[in-house]
Amino acid sequence: MESKTSSCIVLLALAISSLVAFQIALAGDSDILTDFVIPVEVPSVDASYFTFSGLRGLIGAPPPEKFKATKASMAEFPALNGQSVSYAILQYPSGSVNPVHTHPRSAELLLLMSGTLEVGFIDTTNKIFTQTLQTGDVFVFPKGLVHYQYNADATNCAWAISAFGSANAGTVSIPNSVFNTSIPNNILAKSFKTDIMTIQKIKAGLA
Ligand SMILES: *[C@@H]1O[C@H](CO)[C@@H](O)[C@H](O)[C@H]1NC(C)=O
Repeated sequence: MESKTSSCIVLLALAISSLVAFQIALAGDSDILTDFVIPVEVPSVDASYFTFSGLRGLIGAPPPEKFKATKASMAEFPALNGQSVSYAILQYPSGSVNPVHTHPRSAELLLLMSGTLEVGFIDTTNKIFTQTLQTGDVFVFPKGLVHYQYNADATNCAWAISAFGSANAGTVSIPNSVFNTSIPNNILAKSFKTDIMTIQKIKAGLA
């Protein structure tokens, strides 16, 4: 009798934990109960609400002097609210890097349109996955993992289109969030097992 009860409890615990795991796996933008979302102050919309022209200026323009990300996410394009998709156009002059960062709410699907690109991400066991992409290649950065892109080509620029499974994927820049905020120097020094002078030097480079 007692063993029956305890095996029931084990089964129940297993069922609950698999449910929790399932919920975590599904975490993303929440579903909407309407076809689309319009701001409360807007009485009605037409096709122009669903059109974003903010990337036109990039077509045929000269490449930027340093790495540049131009977003078409919910902030720039309100019609994406509730649609769980967004884009970023990424431009890499030769030798430039998109510094190590994560997107807390989405995977990133990068399509390299021109040039070559060194890409990499680190999984939660600290294993690194790197690749040299050729023009036309597609690479996926799994959701939430630390990653980067680097154009190692000495002469040619590169550019890419990245799609996200969230209207607001969010970006946490590791250098910026760790060394360009108000985390006290002594905490950073202890965290990185170094001295305060080294932390100050890193901070000065980002300020
Ligand atoms: C560091 O933070 C300041 C203030 O928020 C910002 O202007 C600057 O761009 C940041 N540095 C980098 C490298 O992003």
